[in-house]
Amino acid sequence: MFTDRVLSGMRPTGRLHLGHYHGVLKNWVDLQHQFECLFFVADWHALTTHYDTPEIIEQNVWDMVIDWLAAGVDPAQATLFIQSQVPAHAEMHVLLSMITPLGWLERVPSYKDQQEKLNEKDLSTYGFLGYPLLQSSDILIYRANRVPVGEDQAPHIEFTREITRRFNHIYGKEIGFKEKAEEAIKKLGSKKSKVYRELRDRYQEQGDDAALATARSLLDEQQNLSMGDRERLFGYLEGGGKMILTEPEALLTRASKMPGLDGQKMSKSYNNTIGLREDPDVVTKKIRTMPTDPARIRRSDPGEPAKCPVWQFHLIYSNAKTQDWVQQGCKSAGIGCLECKQPILEMVLAEQEPMHERARMYEEDPSLVRNLIADGCEKADRLAQETMRDVREAMGLSYT
Ligand code: TRP
Ligand code: SF4
Repeated sequence: MFTDRVLSGMRPTGRLHLGHYHGVLKNWVDLQHQFECLFFVADWHALTTHYDTPEIIEQNVWDMVIDWLAAGVDPAQATLFIQSQVPAHAEMHVLLSMITPLGWLERVPSYKDQQEKLNEKDLSTYGFLGYPLLQSSDILIYRANRVPVGEDQAPHIEFTREITRRFNHIYGKEIGFKEKAEEAIKKLGSKKSKVYRELRDRYQEQGDDAALATARSLLDEQQNLSMGDRERLFGYLEGGGKMILTEPEALLTRASKMPGLDGQKMSKSYNNTIGLREDPDVVTKKIRTMPTDPARIRRSDPGEPAKCPVWQFHLIYSNAKTQDWVQQGCKSAGIGCLECKQPILEMVLAEQEPMHERARMYEEDPSLVRNLIADGCEKADRLAQETMRDVREAMGLSYT
C-alpha cells in the first residue's frame, strides 16, 4: 500500500512545445525509471474549461500522446491512459462529492484566478468548481502517493490531502476498531507482531518517523493480510481508524525557465513557441527571425545580451565557452546576430531529432498508439478497481 506510485496528468488543450518538454516531460522521463508511473490524458479536465470546443480535445488527445512518446516517455516503463476511458475517475468524483464542503472548493485559489483570467468564458459551472475534486479522484483511485505538478497545482494537492483525511476520518471508524486491530496484529505471527508493536510504540510515544516508515514497509511485505486488516493495521499505527485512502504528496517540479521566441515564458497564448515535433525548416525560420536586442539595428551596432531573447536560449543550451563568445562578440559588435543564433539552431534541431525519430512509427501507424493506450486503460482500470472496492464497501455500497 505504501510502495511509491507516481501519477500525473496533462490536459489535451493544444500541441506540446519545448516549454512542456523542459518543464514537465523530461521530469516524467526521469521518474519512469525510478518509480511505478501512471501518466494520463486529462480529457475531462480539459472539458471543464473547453466544454464548448470538443473538437479541440479530440484532435489533441492523440497528438499529445505522440508528443509524450517522442519526448521519451516509454510505454514499457510507464502506464499511459485516457481519463475518460477509466470510469472509476467519475465514480470516485461522485462519491467524494458527498463529503466535500462547498467552501473548500470555493477557496481553492485557481477557482477565482482562472475565472478572472478566462473571463470571456462562463466558468461559473458545477464542473469547473469541482475541478480540484476531480483531480483528487484521479490521484486517490490509484493510491498514488507522489504527484509531480507545477507550483500552480500545489493547492490542488493540499486540497486532496484534506479530502483524504476527511474520508478516512468519516469512513475509517468502525465499531470495535481497537479489538479488530489487535486481532489483526496476531495474524502477523508472533515475531512480526512483536516488531509491529515495538515500532508502533516508538512512533506513538516518541514521534519516531523512521519507526513509522519501517512498520509500513513491514506491512507492505505482508502477503497474507485481508484488505480490511491491512487498512486497520496501517490506521492503527497512527491512530484510531482505518486508512482507506492514501494521502499524496506533491513532487514539485520547478517552473520551466524555457523562454519563448520573444523572451517571455514559452506559452501558446504568447504565440512564441517551438513545437516539440515542429518541422526543422519551420524551426530554422522561427529562430532565424526571432527578435534580438533592438539597439542592434546595423551589424556594426554593439548589443547587450541581457536585452536579447537569443541570450536566454544560450543560457539554456550553450556551454560557458559559447556564452563567453556571445557576450564578447555582441558587446563589441564582433559577431552578427545570425551568427549568434547558429549554435542555438543547431542545439534545438539536435534536441528534436531523436524526438522526430521516436515519433515516426507512431505517426505512420496510428493503431500503435491506440493499442498502447488501450492496454494502459485496461491496466489503470484494474488498479482503480482495487481501491473502488474498498471505497464502495466503506460507504455502504457493496452489494455482492
Ligand atoms: N490539473 C492538472 C493541470 O492542469 C492536470 C491534472 C489533472 C493532474 N489531474 C491530475 C495533474 C492529477 C496531476 C495529478 O496541469
Ligand atoms: Fe542577441 Fe546575439 Fe545579436 Fe547580441 S549578438 S543581440 S545576443 S542575437
